[in-house]
Amino acid sequence: VSTIPVPAAPAAYDVWIEPGALAELPARLDRDVAAAGYAIIADERVAGTLGAKLRAALAARGRPVTLHTHPSGEQAKTRATWAALTDALLASGLGRDGCVIALGGGVTGDLAGFVAATYMRGVAFVQVPTTLLAMVDAAVGGKTGVDTGAGKNLVGAFHAPRLVCSDPLVLRTLPDPVLRAGLAEVVKHGAIADAGYLAATVRDAARLLAREPEALGTAIARSVEIKARVVAADPRERGERATLNFGHTLAHALEREQRFQLAHGYAVAIGMAAAARIGEHAGVSEPGTAASLAAALAALELPTRLPRGTPLDALLDAARLDKKARAGRTRYVLLHRPGAVARNGAEWTFEVSDAAVRDALAAGADDVA
Ligand SMILES: NC(=O)c1ccc[n+]([C@@H]2O[C@H](COP(=O)([O-])OP(=O)(O)OC[C@H]3O[C@@H](n4cnc5c(N)ncnc54)[C@H](O)[C@@H]3O)[C@@H](O)[C@H]2O)c1
Ligand SMILES: [Zn+2]
Repeated sequence: VSTIPVPAAPAAYDVWIEPGALAELPARLDRDVAAAGYAIIADERVAGTLGAKLRAALAARGRPVTLHTHPSGEQAKTRATWAALTDALLASGLGRDGCVIALGGGVTGDLAGFVAATYMRGVAFVQVPTTLLAMVDAAVGGKTGVDTGAGKNLVGAFHAPRLVCSDPLVLRTLPDPVLRAGLAEVVKHGAIADAGYLAATVRDAARLLAREPEALGTAIARSVEIKARVVAADPRERGERATLNFGHTLAHALEREQRFQLAHGYAVAIGMAAAARIGEHAGVSEPGTAASLAAALAALELPTRLPRGTPLDALLDAARLDKKARAGRTRYVLLHRPGAVARNGAEWTFEVSDAAVRDALAAGADDVA
């Protein structure tokens, strides 16, 4: 059992990580998040199983509870879905003393969080993440929102949950690629903050891939600690929080270039491997950083190379749209060595020219088909 306290405004909240936690959630809500009624917002894939169970368990304790579903997938993370869910909550009679429970992956958490942030100007919110990515990343930090035609996550709000309940047992039904996509963010946390954690992740790779609840619980707890510490240091994303974007400059570009057909975690794996090589090429990262990161990713069955035939020009153009870019120049989070992010004076990112990125990617590589 792990409980990680996360400092946040208006109040700190606990991330509770335990195999079997979901079954204990109704009792915990009674104690810590008492509300006049509960609205569960669930991904349609988990609504029939986990959602129905949670609703029944809350109803058995005499709690007014409703269950609302949304279609699964990133395409559902829209203002239209937000409006439909909000209307459903209004029709159900949920009041300002009610509580929204997000049950699903990061899509559900972002969507339901934004519903909770805006419903009657903000109601209590509980995150019950059901993907590894949501447990180690999306459910912590208080960012909520939806996508628009102009891009991902462009409309949203900061709205901290009152409690996050992560039960590694629910990950048993997760498809392999979705599990591995979450493991990419686990590698990221080790790479930027904790060499021992990175090594442990490699050592436990087989147990993590086999979804052993103890191994997953340990990783989730360490990742949450790391993310929580960074978020606490920089709640509004003005500085250090950029380090959580390690690997994401090229990942986002690659996702865009591949029209979002490549899973985010796979793009992040490729982006981290590339950033490690860029860092070494730029003389910022210690020699061996790139090899060690690539080996860690490979141990978790994640890709480390750009898909064959990726047009580098288009990729570098897309990278210029990254939120870290300044004055049209792309900036990268680089490692000092595995387990430690590199500082650039007072800054957390480095400007790297396209030519240097190209050289780093081409050096001894088969990236450029
Ligand atoms: N708010 C943040 O700080 C933050 C951080 C990182 C990512 N995100 C967001 O998270 C989203 C990605 O999250 P995700 O990877 O969890 O995607 P997701 O929510 O789409 O879930 C991935 C897939 O897994 C399925 N699924 C969920 N739980 C399952 C279970 N227990 N068993 C079987 N299948 C299950 C879903 O139906 C979906 O098909 C993106 O929209 C991203 O923007 C937000
Ligand atoms: Zn990510």
